[in-house]
Amino acid sequence: MAKTIYFTASSLDGYIADSNHSLDWLFQFGEAGPPSYEAFIRDIGAIAMGAKTYEWIARYLVASNESDWPYHVPTWVFTHRDLPPIAGAEVRFVQGAAASVHAAMCEAAGERNCWIAGGGDLVGQFYDAGLLNEIIVQVAPLTLGGGAPLLPRRIHPPLELTRVDDYGGGFVELRYTVSPPEGVRSDSARSV
Ligand SMILES: NC(=O)c1ccc[n+]([C@@H]2O[C@H](COP(=O)([O-])OP(=O)(O)OC[C@H]3O[C@@H](n4cnc5c(N)ncnc54)[C@H](OP(=O)(O)O)[C@@H]3O)[C@@H](O)[C@H]2O)c1
Repeated sequence: MAKTIYFTASSLDGYIADSNHSLDWLFQFGEAGPPSYEAFIRDIGAIAMGAKTYEWIARYLVASNESDWPYHVPTWVFTHRDLPPIAGAEVRFVQGAAASVHAAMCEAAGERNCWIAGGGDLVGQFYDAGLLNEIIVQVAPLTLGGGAPLLPRRIHPPLELTRVDDYGGGFVELRYTVSPPEGVRSDSARSV
């Protein structure tokens, strides 16, 4: 069954970027990404992200002299603005409800999973609609004291912890199965 997954790195105190929208705190550990990334991205058929995350990627490509958009599947970017496109990126700019975008993502992804890349409130919008199935988070051994929150929602019923991996260097990866919010239909996990 294909899933909709939030895969991200976080500080121990629950921030995915610092208050300047910087990821320097994460990249000090190296830019290769977690060991699980390759297998994760292989099974991804569609991506959604918020405007700030898209803008961060655009800045990163310029700063690192990279020219290539890093993803090879369609990406939906939520924004109320006319953001500049990135050459080679298969991106659709959208706004509004997560549910209608999710339907288009599922159609594009087919049997593969959907990745909600962040930020946290956008992931929360998918959660609110009962569309989030799993959270995979790499927790870095530091705190930031503020910044962009991991997932600014009060989640009931509790998440189910399904796996813990120790990546060394103080990093752990936690996987949780997410149940829909109370009162929201639980049939949102797709069967394909
Ligand atoms: N640690 C990691 O692995 C990781 C992963 C992902 C992201 N990040 C970083 O975390 C930070 C995330 O920042 P963030 O939480 O502020 O946000 P974000 O989700 O990337 O962007 C928020 C913006 O998305 C737009 N948006 C959200 N929902 C919308 C909707 N339903 N309809 C239309 N537009 C919508 C709005 O942009 P408008 O201004 O257009 O209204 C909103 O201000 C970024 O710095 C990113 O680089 C880190």
